[in-house]
Amino acid sequence: MIQTEDMEFAPRIITPETTQEDSDIDVSLRPQTLHEYIGQDKAKENIAIYIEAAKRRGEPLDHVLLYGPPGLGKTTLSAIIAHELGVNLRVTTGPAIEKPGDLVSLLTSLSDNDVLFIDEIHRLSRAVEEILYPALEDRVIDIIIGKGPSAQSIRIDLKPFTLIGATTRAGQLSAPLRDRFGVIQRLELYTKAQLTDIVRRSSMILGIPCTGDGAEEIAGRARGTPRIANRLLKRVRDFADVMGNGEITTDIARIALSRLEIDELGLDGLDRRMLEMIIKGYAGGPVGLETLASALNEESVTLEDICEPFLMQLGFLGRTPRGRIATRLAYEHLGYKPPEPKPSADDGQMTF
Ligand code: ADE
Repeated sequence: MIQTEDMEFAPRIITPETTQEDSDIDVSLRPQTLHEYIGQDKAKENIAIYIEAAKRRGEPLDHVLLYGPPGLGKTTLSAIIAHELGVNLRVTTGPAIEKPGDLVSLLTSLSDNDVLFIDEIHRLSRAVEEILYPALEDRVIDIIIGKGPSAQSIRIDLKPFTLIGATTRAGQLSAPLRDRFGVIQRLELYTKAQLTDIVRRSSMILGIPCTGDGAEEIAGRARGTPRIANRLLKRVRDFADVMGNGEITTDIARIALSRLEIDELGLDGLDRRMLEMIIKGYAGGPVGLETLASALNEESVTLEDICEPFLMQLGFLGRTPRGRIATRLAYEHLGYKPPEPKPSADDGQMTF
């Protein structure tokens, strides 16, 4: 499964990236069909139509780019697409395709209409990307054999296939690559109601007794992310087994989640430290992302990809051209008195 380099060391319980433990449960919890897949209604409806149209025409599905924060089910959705199309799925990641030759052997080993899934597609090297362009556009690859005047170009025809690229950072994709996707679909953070359905479904599959309210308590702290909801479910189960009678209730869920230092809105220590740094260290902001990251001794990508989408969804964080600001809601949530609004110098708007 997909691992990032820094994950070997005690990952945060709310990290949306895949951990080894997730891989073990992922398989049984993964929905197999669009019908079983909860949430992402817009993406699902569109994709269902594209799949049906491709099947009726006997053609491969157009190339698909899925983007959005980590942990929202991009890999799961790709597996469902392949399953619904009745074709094979090949899964890889951008950094795993080191050389153009790696991509050539992947592409030439596909069968008719297969799906190739490349996670973190924004991390492909330029040399590998260049192999991809004619492959996506004309289903051919051009290989240069030899060097200097005797070098020869050989063209290889590929079978029809669909590329599904996934990225957390659509903005980092080069324009020529982005333009070659016929379908570009953003995945959104899940609502609490959708996550409650996911927790209920997962608890049923895993045979964990869980009340409706218990599921809702977990869902409300999973920061919009099914992967986190499923991970919290497993941790809360441990508390239910040891401290209760095995059933996950609201009380057990509350005790477990506060022991895990996840507050009632799903913020963990880093989210709170980030907001506190803006509020106390930079008078509420604006403060640049890099400044904030070094003040917190964290990677800016962690703040940007993991903390920010969720804090912005809660309305706790704002991004302005001059940097990040903490909102009145963030002050109130952390128990600070919000500053009096004052007119901003450059736009006349009331800001903090
Ligand atoms: N498990 C993880 N993500 C899911 C989803 N979107 N629907 C159903 N089960 C899931």
